Amino acid sequence: MIEPNRDAPASQDPQRLLQKEAQFWDLQEEKIDSLYARPHDWRFVPKIAEKIIQPRVDTLLRLLDTHKGKIKSLVDIGCGNGWLCHATAKRGIHSIGIDLSPKKIATARRMAQEQGIADRCEFVAGDVMTWAPKHKVDLLTSHGSLHHFPEFQKALDHMVEHHLKPDGLMLFVEPNHEGMAPEVAQFLLKYAQHPFWKRFFDIEFYLEVTGKKTLEGPEGAVDEMNVRHESPAGKEFFGEHIELDAFFSAHFDVIERHFYHYFSSHATNAFYVFMKSKLIRGLWRLALPWIVRRDTRLLRDPKYQQYAEDGLWFMRRKAPPA
Ligand SMILES: C[S@@+](CC[C@H](N)C(=O)[O-])C[C@H]1O[C@@H](n2cnc3c(N)ncnc32)[C@H](O)[C@@H]1O
Repeated sequence: MIEPNRDAPASQDPQRLLQKEAQFWDLQEEKIDSLYARPHDWRFVPKIAEKIIQPRVDTLLRLLDTHKGKIKSLVDIGCGNGWLCHATAKRGIHSIGIDLSPKKIATARRMAQEQGIADRCEFVAGDVMTWAPKHKVDLLTSHGSLHHFPEFQKALDHMVEHHLKPDGLMLFVEPNHEGMAPEVAQFLLKYAQHPFWKRFFDIEFYLEVTGKKTLEGPEGAVDEMNVRHESPAGKEFFGEHIELDAFFSAHFDVIERHFYHYFSSHATNAFYVFMKSKLIRGLWRLALPWIVRRDTRLLRDPKYQQYAEDGLWFMRRKAPPA
């Protein structure tokens, strides 16, 4: 392994960035209880997160069922606490999860034991780029992890070449857009500034989380080890502005693609996570399934897709030219 250059900023030294990334996710796992205790994002409110991610889980399960005979093994890249491997192992798929963070991997192994599926799961702590799997698999998955890889294209080429069978499939869920749709941003800002509504929002907590000085101002510099914020490698990726949909379409044969969350996720932060009024939080919670359905329908229209927060791409290698 190449030694990191401690004098260079992490962004200029891939080894150092990787080391920072592993520390970030270890730290996040250590502090995970406090993130759930005071959520800064809908992802840390389990009952809300379940409703918001339901459409993509439905798509994932439908695709696994449709291709059941073909998918016997998978590698989940950047598996975190292993939830995806646990779900696929329960469907009889031999599921291997790899993650940089030893603490996340320890949690993934413990949860597999608790759920009685440890015999169908394998968890590896390490860097996907230096890991040599024993066998190639039928499916490569990533749920929100690919955008944490420095040198994204090189990393993806490496995984496809070394981990995936020649006729294997890929199923990736990744951020599709780094911010909210402009109309959604305007709508939320308008209400957050209104004198009547202003008293309902926990604006101080919002400013603390985003590092902003004012509501309209740009995001401020946030300490790179602030586990409420984007990880060091995630920040680098967004700096590069890679358009994943264009990238995947150019490199692979896209069998299905779907987009999620135009309004439901960002507005949930505003009307639930940063909302002080219990009544409004309750009403938002009740209305959420309808809002999510509306979002999912809206995002079948290509005009809105570019601003969807997340995308799901189901793909295989391109056939070689005849
Ligand atoms: C946003 S988290 C997603 C975790 C999980 N897939 C989920 O849905 O909860 C990104 C994960 O990618 C992992 N990761 C980043 N770079 C990696 C690398 N080079 N090799 C393995 N894992 C990596 C991080 O440790 C982190 O746990």
